[in-house]
Amino acid sequence: MNAITTEPNTATLPSQGVAACAVPAAGQTTAAPTFDVERIRGDFPILKLLVDSKPLVYLDNAASSQMPQQVIDRLAVYHSSEHANIHRGVHYLSETATATYEAARRKLQQFINAPEEREVIFTSGTTDAINLVMHGYGRKFIKSGDEIILTTLEHHSNIVPWQMLAEETGARIRVAPVNDAGELVIDAYQKLFNERTKLVGVTHISNALGSINPIKEMIAFAHSNGTPVLVDGAQATPHMQVDVQDLDCDFYTFSGHKLCGPTGIGILYGKASLLEKMQPFKGGGDMILSVTFEKTTYNTIPYKFEAGTPPIAAAVGLAAAVDYMSAIGMHNVAAHEAELLKYATSQMTNMPGVRIIGTAQNKAAVISFTVDGVHPHDVGTLLNQAGVAVRTGHHCAQPVMQRFNVPATSRASFAFYNTLDEVDVLIGGIRDVQQVFA
Ligand code: ALA
Repeated sequence: MNAITTEPNTATLPSQGVAACAVPAAGQTTAAPTFDVERIRGDFPILKLLVDSKPLVYLDNAASSQMPQQVIDRLAVYHSSEHANIHRGVHYLSETATATYEAARRKLQQFINAPEEREVIFTSGTTDAINLVMHGYGRKFIKSGDEIILTTLEHHSNIVPWQMLAEETGARIRVAPVNDAGELVIDAYQKLFNERTKLVGVTHISNALGSINPIKEMIAFAHSNGTPVLVDGAQATPHMQVDVQDLDCDFYTFSGHKLCGPTGIGILYGKASLLEKMQPFKGGGDMILSVTFEKTTYNTIPYKFEAGTPPIAAAVGLAAAVDYMSAIGMHNVAAHEAELLKYATSQMTNMPGVRIIGTAQNKAAVISFTVDGVHPHDVGTLLNQAGVAVRTGHHCAQPVMQRFNVPATSRASFAFYNTLDEVDVLIGGIRDVQQVFA
């Protein structure tokens, strides 16, 4: 159906931070002098929380980031005055909700520079998006004896669906290794290709280590072999400018809740030529053109892949989050987080008994670490008592843990609203942990 055009919602721009944050020129890589993290923090009510009487230091952004007031407000407006089911009614509210939902799709299209809005599919998250490709593309085009290339750095959500497919079809998984810094070994990756290689699945940024994969180079090589590439962008879209046309990826997936948006929403970008050839993942309402008991014909893309009532409110919230992030400027976000990473790394590198796992040259603001003689869960529990939220465990990336010979790590993952002072609180908290266990 035709989308109804609405004006962009400007209520979602940072209320104070945007005045303080100059949007940088293209290619600018250092934080604009006007980037004011304290003013930006004022947009995030949750950052004012006290945990055990200590100010919250939220360093679990790779798991889920926090939501600014502008997104919370946008969701409230949607629920108060715009909500109905979409694509199904001729009444005012249904048309309003449909227009808002389709405007959200256009916003997401612009955010990743997708060529066409029909190439942007709303899913429930990155995992759902990868499963969609596995069912829609993999089950149709990958056969017994075919090969799928993954990397050691993948999250379970970009391993398990392909293993399920391999079990079902007799296809084979091949794994590109990483070096001791957690960097992909590009020569070894290239040697995995042959005429049976049917798909590459690669994470843009490792959730466990922060390594940024050379995906543009990886995609170009895969294409020279005629192999399409799916990129798990869950950890990249919140931290850097992503341009799917520049990358030339075939599929790109990401989640709303890591991008200051709601849970329950994600995006699958796919090249139209591939999406059109794929079979639907889920059957139900809205994904059909006609249904009889003899035969069903499917809707056009993207609707073919959006069965049932989609996460309408979450899509509206995600569009607001993208507005918010874009107003700050992804180059500013990246530059500020690079400063945090540099400072935290320099502090932790000099701490006796602390080992950073993952020291890639090209790295996002994630620090996975171990403390000698202390289980990561104890590190996390004691840091929590200092108000510091980190994730501990295998981070849904057990092959990464196996590669580095550790059962688990503690992981501090930063966002643009974190501060150098918060890094100091983390460092102080780790020192206290060491003293408790001394
Ligand atoms: N994938 C998320 C993480 O890395 C949940 O923590």
